[in-house]
Amino acid sequence: MEKSSPPLYTERAELYDLVYQWKDYRREAQQVRSLLREAGVGAGSRVLEAACGTGSYLAELAWDHEVAGFDLNEGMIGQARRKLPEVPLWQADMLTVEPEQVGGRYDAVLCLFSSIGYLWPQDRLREGLRRLAALLRPGGVLILEPWVRPEVWEEGRPTLQTAGHPELDATPVEIYVARAGVSSSREVGGLRISVMELHYLVARAHHGVEHFVEHHELWLCPMEVLVDAVEQAGLVPRWLDEGLSTGRGLIVAKCPAP
Ligand SMILES: C[S@@+](CC[C@H](N)C(=O)[O-])C[C@H]1O[C@@H](n2cnc3c(N)ncnc32)[C@H](O)[C@@H]1O
Repeated sequence: MEKSSPPLYTERAELYDLVYQWKDYRREAQQVRSLLREAGVGAGSRVLEAACGTGSYLAELAWDHEVAGFDLNEGMIGQARRKLPEVPLWQADMLTVEPEQVGGRYDAVLCLFSSIGYLWPQDRLREGLRRLAALLRPGGVLILEPWVRPEVWEEGRPTLQTAGHPELDATPVEIYVARAGVSSSREVGGLRISVMELHYLVARAHHGVEHFVEHHELWLCPMEVLVDAVEQAGLVPRWLDEGLSTGRGLIVAKCPAP
């Protein structure tokens, strides 16, 4: 099933870091670092982020790891390259990626901020996880942050976020972004899919105000289904209720050593 990517990941990727300026990547990367240490992946090890977006986790983890990343969308990779000119970054799809495309196998593969939620139905999820598992060396670790758990999803909830930035793209412009939506969901082939229709207002100095709408559909995948899919990929998962963001949990999965 082909799905087109939302503008925030493509032609409007320059807005991504502004929209998520509230997110504490430094604190979350520190949590990831601790989990990696516990799993035996220490400083200096090779870490790959799948669906790395604009590279905000990589920027933090680059302090003490050899990092690399890939993402489906060139727009996101373009932003990441500007931030991290020294870091190897590739355009690749979790559904087709192979080790040769992304610098071989790694001590750890990360897939964070719910990027896995875009992989549905079940056969796409399984294929994506199988591909991510194949990027690990034996004994390596996958850290997977799911989308919101179905039991905590709030239907019909309005959201409004605003963000402003005095300087974007190193030009002396002022820019403000407002993003509003109301959460909903639909049934597709027995799966519950969250649907977010997000309206953006972008006010840019000397440019006026622009409006665009984007559509996200992520699977409200039950925890047991996700854990099972990680096992099917040949990994040994551990579920953590307390993850990086509220209501999402986290999976830390080990690739068995031979
Ligand atoms: C919510 S963003 C997270 C980006 C980054 N991990 C972060 O935390 O800022 C979701 C990302 O998943 C990427 N993505 C979606 N489907 C993908 C796929 N099949 N393969 C690789 N990347 C994908 C999108 O392009 C987007 O960059």
